[in-house]
Amino acid sequence: MTELFYIKTFGCQMNKHDSDSMSQILINQGYRQTESIKDAHIILVNTCAVREKAEEKALSLIGRLSHLRTKKPNLITGVIGCVAQERGVNLLKHFPYLDLILGPRNIYQIDKLLSQIKKERERISSLDLACELTSFPKCNGYFKGRVTSFLKIMEGCDNFCTYCIVPFVRGRETSLPAEKIIDEAKHLVSQGIKEITLIGQNVNSYNVRDKALPTFPGLLNELDSISGLERLRFTTSHPKNLSDELIDLFAGSKSLCAHMHLPVQSGSNNILKLMSRGYTRDKYIDLIERLRKTRPGITITSDMIVGFPGETEKDFEDSLRLIDEIGFDNLFSFKYSERPGIKALELPGKIGENEKQRRLSILQERQRGITLSKNRLLEGTIQEILVEGPAKRGDNQLTGRTRGDKVVNFPSANNLKGRLVMVRIVKGFQNSLLAELVDG
Ligand code: SAH
Ligand code: SF4
Ligand code: F3S
Repeated sequence: MTELFYIKTFGCQMNKHDSDSMSQILINQGYRQTESIKDAHIILVNTCAVREKAEEKALSLIGRLSHLRTKKPNLITGVIGCVAQERGVNLLKHFPYLDLILGPRNIYQIDKLLSQIKKERERISSLDLACELTSFPKCNGYFKGRVTSFLKIMEGCDNFCTYCIVPFVRGRETSLPAEKIIDEAKHLVSQGIKEITLIGQNVNSYNVRDKALPTFPGLLNELDSISGLERLRFTTSHPKNLSDELIDLFAGSKSLCAHMHLPVQSGSNNILKLMSRGYTRDKYIDLIERLRKTRPGITITSDMIVGFPGETEKDFEDSLRLIDEIGFDNLFSFKYSERPGIKALELPGKIGENEKQRRLSILQERQRGITLSKNRLLEGTIQEILVEGPAKRGDNQLTGRTRGDKVVNFPSANNLKGRLVMVRIVKGFQNSLLAELVDG
């Protein structure tokens, strides 16, 4: 009998990529993936620990596995990813029905550990942060039906921003060899992928410690020449490591899309310092000016935290002024969330929940207006769209993204999935654009 596995993925693009890697490993070993948790023989929960809420969501799903296990005593359940790393074997104590705890650096052992659990019915944890990054035989056909994919180029983070748990749960920064990345990109293109997003916590510091190896711009240049790869994106960039060489690539690269996600976190120099971010407000503004000069029309998105310890009303207003001044196309904003082990735990001036919520609401309201006006500015322009498939709403509409990463829906009765088409933007909304196909 073929065994069915189910994976639930929380968190960022790194976790999505990790879940895809585990699925491919398991499919290669003869397992089959199911979308139905009830039918599964193996349930894996890939978790995120970045904020308390994310962690609570994962823990609540893990709690609900108890009754499935009672119904099916042979069910195997595993917790993977950042909460697994953070809580470790305590999870085994807390949830007596869990069989496997697997840290983000250890995901490539998934098939071996499952075999061991099945054979010996023992409970296993694998949490070695120094574990070598390995590759695995790819699974032909896995990406069928998709036109975009992530490709991991680095793991871990050495920045230790004072609010962030990621360096503790993903370990030290490690770059994958360029040849492996290029091989994987070629494989993805052979599987029908047209757009690749390179991912890492801080892609600008790719190979930064070894001068003999290609830098991040060098890697982008090599990937740019892969035929059939229409679009290249990357995330995340850290402002302190954004080089002139990388900015210049936006002027010349064929496949590189005109979008930069550059998390700023705060508009106040005091807070940026307390966060250990390594740049000032002015330095950030200067980077954006240079990007816009090099590639007019480039889309800029960012992340912002409100209510960091010690954030005064004036600091918060500095953040509001910054979003007005820059005019981000989109902003992901969060209330500061206390995490185990982070340096900010020791900082004075903690902000109450109500005040954090008040600041978040004001900031988000302000940004909504900016996003809408940016989207409206695109009305009447011609844009290239990579068609991803039918739009969510249906109505004979297709959906895709501009090179600037804006979601566009347009009516068409044809199957254009995977095709690059030109459209005219008819209307800009809050979260998407409506367009019509341009003939020819
Ligand atoms: N490596 C990326 C992403 C880190 S996590 C980067 O450096 O930008 C994604 C976002 O979560 C961060 O940019 C930050 O805005 C937010 N974040 C991280 N830790 C947080 C915390 N403790 N509370 C609230 N938001 C947090
Ligand atoms: Fe976290 Fe900072 Fe590393 Fe990003 S750069 S993962 S915010 S420590
Ligand atoms: Fe969450 Fe881990 Fe990503 S903490 S944001 S899943 S690196």
